[in-house]
Amino acid sequence: MSLLYERVAESLRGQIRRGVLRAGERLPSLRRVGRQQQVSLATAVEAYVQLEREGLVEARPRSGYYVRGAAPDLPEPALRRTPRAPCAMRNPALLDVLDVLTRSDLLPLHAATPSLELLPAAGIAAAVARTMRRHRDAALRYAMPQGQPGLRLQIARRYAHCGVDVDPDEIVVTAGAMEAISLALRSVTRSGDVVLLETPTYYGLLQAVAALGLRVVEVPNRPGAGIDVAQLEGLLARHEVRAAVLVPNFNNPVGSLTGDAGKQAIVAACAARCVVLIEDDLYGELAYSGTRPPPLRRFDRQGGVITCGSFSKMLAPGLRVGWAFGSRWTDELLRAKCFSSVATASLPQLAIADYLAHHDVDRPLRRLRRELAANAQRYRDVVARYWPAGTRVSEPVGGMALWLELADGVDAQALFEAALAQGIGTLPGHLFSNRDEYRHHLRLSCGLLWDAKIEQALRAVGALADRLRKEK
Ligand SMILES: Cc1ncc(COP(=O)(O)O)c(C=O)c1O
Repeated sequence: MSLLYERVAESLRGQIRRGVLRAGERLPSLRRVGRQQQVSLATAVEAYVQLEREGLVEARPRSGYYVRGAAPDLPEPALRRTPRAPCAMRNPALLDVLDVLTRSDLLPLHAATPSLELLPAAGIAAAVARTMRRHRDAALRYAMPQGQPGLRLQIARRYAHCGVDVDPDEIVVTAGAMEAISLALRSVTRSGDVVLLETPTYYGLLQAVAALGLRVVEVPNRPGAGIDVAQLEGLLARHEVRAAVLVPNFNNPVGSLTGDAGKQAIVAACAARCVVLIEDDLYGELAYSGTRPPPLRRFDRQGGVITCGSFSKMLAPGLRVGWAFGSRWTDELLRAKCFSSVATASLPQLAIADYLAHHDVDRPLRRLRRELAANAQRYRDVVARYWPAGTRVSEPVGGMALWLELADGVDAQALFEAALAQGIGTLPGHLFSNRDEYRHHLRLSCGLLWDAKIEQALRAVGALADRLRKEK
């Protein structure tokens, strides 16, 4: 990859992001950019083509390159709800659609994982082969319950990158973020306890809480704004909450980021009431801005936060390697791990440690973030142009989820089924609620490598939404 063209592209990207170059504005001519940035014409062209691929600019024949306009009339979904008393978990609909997640015959607009083309699959495959050649016996034996030391070191190093000091000895390696969250919940709660979750939130968190017989209160996570801190403080004052499971960095399905001030206030409010904070930091590395937002742990002075994460969205979901850490909770987490799966599989742990030791993972991550950001914009453009007027879409700033509020009360389950009949996977909104809400919302994933087939599928789902709207 030519670094020169990337430097030029990054400078223009920054100007667009900061609003220095505004929607509809003409970009400097290729010759001028070449002169200003002291690069060849070919390099300038390469930079503009890259920005076009990302959906940030468009070429107009015989006129030049222009900053693409924001999608017309595309507000973010509203979230209208009032706080309610804790309630037991219920979401029977979950099981009805979960088999969709594993179907390989669908065009997967539903699967919140990046296409393998966007992940460093070849490097990982080579690391697996190397591990089997060099460390076959260790790869085939049980790993220690806490996890392979070389891998824990690499995880600590990634957090050090974003200014967070983590001791490798406090990390417990898990089978993905999901096991990490389950272990954290098991370590700090007892059946019947009240747990605070966001609404909407990832259905896996709802399942984990349901499996442990916990009750739930919900705090809104608003598109564009993140967790509603004032409501969170109110809920903690009214209810005896034992733990909070939050996704401040790019909540799934909304894609929002809770800012540093909000994070600080959340950590302080939970610490003041002895509420254990469990943060799901799975998407922390996938900020479209390129700047990794801090985890809640950064603001934790008392060692009370448990941070969970995994390599699922940045290396490979199938390896099932994640982590949990929280300095006050290491013994409990380790005990829970021993009772749960004894140890995470050795081969994936060793292979990931090997990969991270020998590769600059920031390179594939930069590309992944860029593609996800470009995809989110492309999806929003297609929805603005081809879906019924009145459809609202979240504007994610990281991760790979888009949250849609369908026009004129179109039923999301009906749309999900109609799309399924055409071989297209989507997820109806009520999966992301404990109370059967979001009947008119849909979650889409923008983790696929963009091509004409995806655009067609998105347009087809929009046409189905329009048909359902007219049939109402
Ligand atoms: C918010 C959130 N947490 C956890 C998970 C599960 O992660 P893992 O595959 O590492 O278990 C997902 C998967 O999509 C998710 O979106």
